Amino acid sequence: MRHGNLVVGVTGASGAIYAQRFLLRACRLWSRVLLIMSDQAFQVASTELGVRLLREGFSPSEWLGFDAPNLELLSSRDYFTPPASGSFRHDGMVVIPCSMGTAGRIAHGISDDLLTRSADVCLKEKRPLVVVPREMPMNLIMLRNLATLAEAGATVLPACPAWYGVPQSLEELADTVVARVLQSLGVEQDIVPQWAD
Ligand SMILES: Cc1cc2nc3c(=O)[nH]c(=O)nc-3n(C[C@H](O)[C@H](O)[C@H](O)COP(=O)(O)O)c2cc1C
Repeated sequence: MRHGNLVVGVTGASGAIYAQRFLLRACRLWSRVLLIMSDQAFQVASTELGVRLLREGFSPSEWLGFDAPNLELLSSRDYFTPPASGSFRHDGMVVIPCSMGTAGRIAHGISDDLLTRSADVCLKEKRPLVVVPREMPMNLIMLRNLATLAEAGATVLPACPAWYGVPQSLEELADTVVARVLQSLGVEQDIVPQWAD
């Protein structure tokens, strides 16, 4: 059974593979996936994944390898779109990967683009917000911003892949993070089996 609407934010932090692997699953699990990408996200994803991703003429298949008509790319500057308003019902938002800049803006309520505004809305409406930060090492400002997000109700799920399942590829490694994001959203996942007693 497919879930309803999901909002996905992608920033210019390293780890575009997490976004790619998450979107692959999300497009199968949700009937509508609203994607918001920062300008820097396009650049970093193109570099890391070896594909030419552009906002103009964006095609999901270029990135995901299959046509996903339920994946809609929104303009990051257009506030006249559903996730900018609390009246739009959805199952939550995932920011994957999340840069420290975006984490800081969300933590301080600086809704200066559609991504940060949508995250702000999630928090005020008490909807699930899963933030997947990636940086190392972290300074005190970054750590405090992540703590502020957690205090405000977000799930801070760092991009720390698990090795105990002995992943055989980069995709399998990235999927250990994707599995936890899905679990945080309350979705059954069969990517990584539960650790048995
Ligand atoms: C190749 C590359 C990798 C980057 N990796 C990270 C990262 O892991 N974490 C981070 O916070 N910023 C990273 N940055 C810097 C962000 O892209 C930069 O702070 C940008 O302003 C983030 O903007 P956004 O949050 O609007 O996407 C990286 C930049 C480049 C070019």
